[in-house]
Amino acid sequence: MKVISDLNQPTLVDRSLAAVWHPCTQMKHHESLPLIAIAKGKGAWLYDEQGNALLDCISSWWTNLFGHSNERINQAITAQLDQIEHVMLAGFTHAPVVQLSEKLSALTNGNLGHVFYASDGASAVEIALKMSHHFWQLHNKPKKKKFVCLENGYHGETLGALAVTDVAIFREAYGSLLQDVHTVMSPDARNAENGESAEDVARRAAGELEKLFIREHEQIAAMIVEPLVQCAGQMAMYSPVYLRLVRELCTRYEIHLIADEIAVGCGRSGKFFACEHAEIWPDFLTLSKGISGGYLPLSLCMTTDKIYRTFYSDQTKQGFLHSHSYTGNPLACAAALACLDIFETENILEKNITRSQDLKHAFAWAGTDSRIEHLRQQGMILAFDVKQSALRNASAFPREMFSKSLDEGILIRPIGNTIYVMPPYILTMQETEKMGQAVQRALNQVLHD
Ligand SMILES: Cc1ncc(COP(=O)(O)O)c(C=O)c1O
Repeated sequence: MKVISDLNQPTLVDRSLAAVWHPCTQMKHHESLPLIAIAKGKGAWLYDEQGNALLDCISSWWTNLFGHSNERINQAITAQLDQIEHVMLAGFTHAPVVQLSEKLSALTNGNLGHVFYASDGASAVEIALKMSHHFWQLHNKPKKKKFVCLENGYHGETLGALAVTDVAIFREAYGSLLQDVHTVMSPDARNAENGESAEDVARRAAGELEKLFIREHEQIAAMIVEPLVQCAGQMAMYSPVYLRLVRELCTRYEIHLIADEIAVGCGRSGKFFACEHAEIWPDFLTLSKGISGGYLPLSLCMTTDKIYRTFYSDQTKQGFLHSHSYTGNPLACAAALACLDIFETENILEKNITRSQDLKHAFAWAGTDSRIEHLRQQGMILAFDVKQSALRNASAFPREMFSKSLDEGILIRPIGNTIYVMPPYILTMQETEKMGQAVQRALNQVLHD
């Protein structure tokens, strides 16, 4: 009797499909696409309820830097739990948020010495946009309220962040709710024409941007970019020359530069901040995802002394009156401090030079596969595009590839015809090789089926 009643019990997946509305998902696709119930994670591996192992090649949506259930981060959170789990940050402070802010500021050599906290990435972007807007009002330039963003850029899905996002699928249904922005040419190196180099494309894109600034700078508050890699925009990569030119233009035309490092920060690009490749600092820099090692929701917006001072006044309404309940949560800050400690004590950025070489070797096959184009890499992100001519069913390709990869024991989530990996900074050379071979086998199956 008992066995029969157990058999009739809905599984966790059934219950999830009934009760949980999953993000970034057409729920009906789960009629054919597996939903996987994860029971456990250790290192770069996820384990489902049946104990099957999956190599997490995309760091659980680009968040996990040092593996699942990392002992040092676990310990830091547990120790903090015994002290204070949460306290509001208005009128109160605590050691983890102070230490984290000081450490982050030091990583920018004090250039971005003021840190404002939130929980998710999109909120950090909202903060940067609002601070810029408010700054210009406080400087008696109320006309400066337009934002400039890049074609194919992504900054999150709340209404302000979505307005500066140029990924059609996320915007389409909400277009009428979004403020009007200027969207300018992406410096994506794949836009090269007639033998142009990536640097030539960067210069051409900066030239286009300057034309807009000349015409409209009096109405423009800020320009927002994802430094070096437009991640959700199919891992479009571009030359650091663009960042250098944009910094110059923003300074010349009195426009704030917002560097959204939510995906590319925390060592992902090869340096701690992607802006360091161009030797520039923005006026606002947003971080989230990896900053807490993929453990807890934490985001932040760093800014300069000049901007901070503008809001410093006897007048309450001149302050930056923005808040989230979990701003600067102590547990999340403790996780972030543990991550920064790992970076420092384990020489992660240096070791990642070797890891990114391993990544390159593991995917060398993609460079000679005639079905593939634009093999590209920036630090710990590697991507390539499957040629349209090789695809049988372009719209089904990401799901088919996801599914076949699961059969090969790896987790990847292609974006359109782009396949990418963005693994945690802990893979062994063998695991990296396994990942490269598994992607190749999965791709061969999808393209031959
Ligand atoms: C560059 C960038 N900005 C902002 C966001 C939004 O972050 P969240 O999903 O935490 O709101 C993302 C998320 O992928 C991102 O890649």
